[in-house]
Amino acid sequence: MKTLIIYSSVDGQTQKIAQAMAAEMQAADQSAVLELTALSQADQYDLSGYDNIVIGASIRYGHFNKALEPYIQRHAQLLNRKKSAFYSVNLTARKADKNTPETNVYTRKFLQRIDWQPTQSAVFAGALRYPRYRFFDRFMIRLIMKITGGETDTTKEIEYTDWDKVAEFARRFKSWQGTTRTSFTY
Ligand SMILES: Cc1cc2nc3c(=O)[nH]c(=O)nc-3n(C[C@H](O)[C@H](O)[C@H](O)COP(=O)(O)O)c2cc1C
Repeated sequence: MKTLIIYSSVDGQTQKIAQAMAAEMQAADQSAVLELTALSQADQYDLSGYDNIVIGASIRYGHFNKALEPYIQRHAQLLNRKKSAFYSVNLTARKADKNTPETNVYTRKFLQRIDWQPTQSAVFAGALRYPRYRFFDRFMIRLIMKITGGETDTTKEIEYTDWDKVAEFARRFKSWQGTTRTSFTY
């Protein structure tokens, strides 16, 4: 079984989640072939050569990478024939009532808009890394955090990602045999 994981990541959290999923899938099946690529390089990969495809992307200022939707739409028919998964990463998902594909607005709207219906989808909370942000981003994120009751100490780096949820998602995807489209909520 060959799996391709495509990630769209700016500061590395979505990539880190992709790597954690790959490690989990590899642990579940030593013979599994796993490949990872950034979305920016994904055109170099022929999706028809993979059994399973995972696409993950983070949110910045309310949007996924603008290359994400055209890429997915270009490959929607093929993706719909494969076992496939989508995950999104954002800080809104640090709140328990906003961390599923149904309750996370970015994810819900995106999944409604595109022609691809992933076999499985999930939302993971990302990371807040103030010291690494440029002045403007740090200022803006702090403002958003203040409004939404989050961390405002700009010396802090906090990883909100629930790694057990990531591992569970990967295990479930690996063992999934059916064709029913589902979201992953627990
Ligand atoms: C400049 C910037 C803008 C962001 N905008 C949003 C946002 O609009 N909504 C949200 O929930 N999270 C937002 N985030 C949080 C990111 O989605 C989160 O940090 C995530 O871990 C980033 O993943 P990446 O490192 O793979 O890009 C933003 C983060 C940064 C740095």
